Amino acid sequence: MSEKKHRVSRRQFLNYTLTGVGGFMAAGMLMPMVRFALDPVLGKVEEQDLVQVVSVDEITNEPTRFNFKIKQVDAWHKSEEPRAAWVYKNDNGDIIALSPVCKHLGCTVNWNSDPSNPNKFFCPCHYGLYEKDGTNVPGTPPLAPLDVYKSEVKDGFLYLGSAKPRKEA
Ligand code: FES
Repeated sequence: MSEKKHRVSRRQFLNYTLTGVGGFMAAGMLMPMVRFALDPVLGKVEEQDLVQVVSVDEITNEPTRFNFKIKQVDAWHKSEEPRAAWVYKNDNGDIIALSPVCKHLGCTVNWNSDPSNPNKFFCPCHYGLYEKDGTNVPGTPPLAPLDVYKSEVKDGFLYLGSAKPRKEA
């Protein structure tokens, strides 16, 4: 190989150097703008922490469905999302708030709606069954118990947060 082939002319050197430095500076200016534009999209969906749902006086031993709305921020979009919970007091007087979303394929479960399976949560989509405490009945399609809402009682009202799977699920 001849030595000429490896030589870089002054003009080429300047071209490479200016292109490299220019590219570096452009990236330095553009990155904050791109980050600013994409940040809300990359961020997670923010939900209101706890929402007042019902007066504790209205909660009985019979699971009752209560509907409520939570404020949600998803990127630039703010909305009020409807939620529902099956709420009752257990034998110890503790308030239980269960998600109505079936753990099989997400249909809505109802309390005591199947005459052949009284006092159970029933999912009409594929005949899923859950006990009163939300535990899935073996031999029916759901393979996990109903999610439980984070809850708190304040000034005589029940507040609910997000529904989470049970630890044992
Ligand atoms: S979605 Fe509930 S049993 Fe299938």
